[in-house]
Amino acid sequence: MAYDLCVIGSGPGGYVAAIRASQLGLKTAIIEKYSTLGGTCLNVGCIPSKALLDSSEHYHNAKHNFNTHGIELSNLKVNMKQMIQRKNEVVDQTCKGVDFLMKKNKIDVFHGFGSFVDKHNVKVTKEDGSEENVEAKNILIATGSKPIAPAPFNYDKNRVITSTEALNIDKVPKSMVVIGGGVIGLELGSVFARLGTKVDVVEFNDKLLGSMDKDCAKELQRYMKKKLGVTFHLKHKVVDVKGSKTKAKVSVEPRDGGDQFVIDADYCLIAIGRYAYTDKLGLENVGVQTDDRGRVEIDDHMRTNVDNIFAIGDVVKGVMLAHKAEEEGVFVAEMLAGQKPHINHHLIPGVVYTWPEVSAVGYTEAEAKEAGYEIKVGKFPFKALGRARASMDLEGMVKIIADKHTDEILGAHMIGARAADLIMELCTIMEYRGTAEDLSRICHPHPTFTEAVKEAALAATDNRALHV
Ligand code: FAD
Ligand code: NAI
Repeated sequence: MAYDLCVIGSGPGGYVAAIRASQLGLKTAIIEKYSTLGGTCLNVGCIPSKALLDSSEHYHNAKHNFNTHGIELSNLKVNMKQMIQRKNEVVDQTCKGVDFLMKKNKIDVFHGFGSFVDKHNVKVTKEDGSEENVEAKNILIATGSKPIAPAPFNYDKNRVITSTEALNIDKVPKSMVVIGGGVIGLELGSVFARLGTKVDVVEFNDKLLGSMDKDCAKELQRYMKKKLGVTFHLKHKVVDVKGSKTKAKVSVEPRDGGDQFVIDADYCLIAIGRYAYTDKLGLENVGVQTDDRGRVEIDDHMRTNVDNIFAIGDVVKGVMLAHKAEEEGVFVAEMLAGQKPHINHHLIPGVVYTWPEVSAVGYTEAEAKEAGYEIKVGKFPFKALGRARASMDLEGMVKIIADKHTDEILGAHMIGARAADLIMELCTIMEYRGTAEDLSRICHPHPTFTEAVKEAALAATDNRALHV
C-alpha cells in the first residue's frame, strides 16, 4: 500500500488527524477539494466569524463605551471593505499555517475531489478534470458539513444567504432577517447589529441557543435587544423567502397559529443548522452506512461498518464543533498506531462568541435531573466582581451544578466577559471528577473574572459565596 492512512477532508478534524498520524510514523495523505486547506473552520467558519466578531466589537465599544472610559473620538466610522480585507488576511495566514504543518510533517496533499473506488482506493478528481488514485491501508472520512437551506427559502447566494456569503458582505446592510436563533444566527446577527444593521431574528423555539442553559439564553437575548437593538421573534417560523436583486422578502408565521406577516430586508441569512456532507463521496461503492440524518454511522472507536474506514467531525453524530472534530481525529490516528486513546464526549465545551460570551460544559439542570441526579446550583453574578466593574463588563453570571449528595460538579454554564476562556477551568476539574468544594478551595487571583468561578463554586458547596 502507498499510504497507511488517507484522510478525505482537511478541516480541523482531517488535518489534525493527519498531523498526529504522521507524528506516530504512519505514511499519510490528505485530499481536499478546495484550493486552501483548513475546511469550514478556517475558511468560512470559526476563524473568519471570530475576526469579524472582534472587529465589530471594537467598533461597538468605541461608539458606546469609550466615552465613559474618558476616551473621546470624533468621526468614528466603519470601513467595511477594510474589515473584510483584514478578515481575509487572517484566514489566509491561518490556512497557510496548515500548508506549513503538512510540509513539516511530510504529509502528501492532494487537491481535488475524493471519492471511493473501493475500500482501499480513493479517486481524486482535480479541477482540470484529471484523475489520480490514492491507495491506503486505512481511510478517514472527514468531509464535514454544509448549511441547510430548504427549497422554500430560495437560497440564491445574493440576498438570501448562508454564513458563507454573510462573511463577505462588504457594505453595512440597513436590515437583515436571520432565520434561526442558534449559534450562527446570534454570532453573525451580533456582527451586523453592532455595525448598525437592523436585525430581526426569527426562531422556531421558545428560547434561543437550542439546548444551552435557559438563563444564559435569556440574558443574551435581553442584552442583544437592549444594547444592539435586535428584534426577536421567538415561537415563529419562516415559511417562505423571496430574494430580488437588492432585497429579501421574508414571510413569517407564529408557530402556534396566528397571522402571517412579511419582513422586508436587505438580506435574509439562513442559519438553521448544517447537514453532514457526503455528496458524491461514493459511500455506496464501499457500503459505508449512514443514519437517518445522513451522518456516517460509526462505533465508539469512530470505525464505520467497513473495518478500515473511519469517520470523524461534523460528518458523524455529536456536536458540530471544531475541537470535537480535532479530538476525534487524534483518537483515530492514535488507535491506528496501536495506542489506546480516550475521548470524554460529555465534556466537550460549547462557546458562543457573542458579547457577552456564553459557554457551557456538562449537564444543564434539566439534563442532570433527567439523568437521575439530585442537584444543587451555585450562581454568582459578574456585577459583584471588582474586575468586572473596572472593565465595565458587568453583565452575566457563572452557574455551577453539582450532585447534592457527592458534591461532584456535573455542569457549568456562564455568560459574561471571557466566559469562552473561563469554561476551561470547569472542564479540567470535571475531567478529574472534582467537587464544588475542591474548586472553591483553590486560590484564584484577584482581581480577575475567575473569581466568579470560585464564588459560584462556594455558592454550590453550601451557599457561602463571599461577595453577595
Ligand atoms: P470541515 O471543517 O467542514 O472540513 C471538511 C473539509 O472536507 C472541507 O474543506 C471540504 O471541502 C472537504 N471535503 C468534503 N468532501 C470532500 C471530498 N469528497 N473530497 C475532498 N475534500 C472534501 N466550531 C467551533 O468549535 N468554534 C467556532 O467558533 C465555530 N464557528 C463557526 C462559525 C461558522 C460560521 C460555521 C459555519 C461553523 C463554525 N464552527 C465552529 C463549526 C466548525 O467549523 C465545524 O465544526 C468544523 O469545521 C468541523 O470540522 P470537520 O473537519 O469535521 O469538517
Ligand atoms: P443551530 O442548530 O445552532 O441553530 C439553528 C436554530 O434554527 C435552532 O435554534 C432552530 O430551532 C432554528 N430553526 C430551525 N428551523 C427554523 C425555521 N424554519 N424557522 C425558524 N427557526 C428555525 O445551527 P446554526 O446556528 O446554523 O449552526 C450550525 C452549527 O455550527 C452548530 O451546530 C454549531 O455547533 C456550529 N457553530 C458553532 C459555533 C461556535 O462554536 N461558536 C459558531 C457557529 C456555528
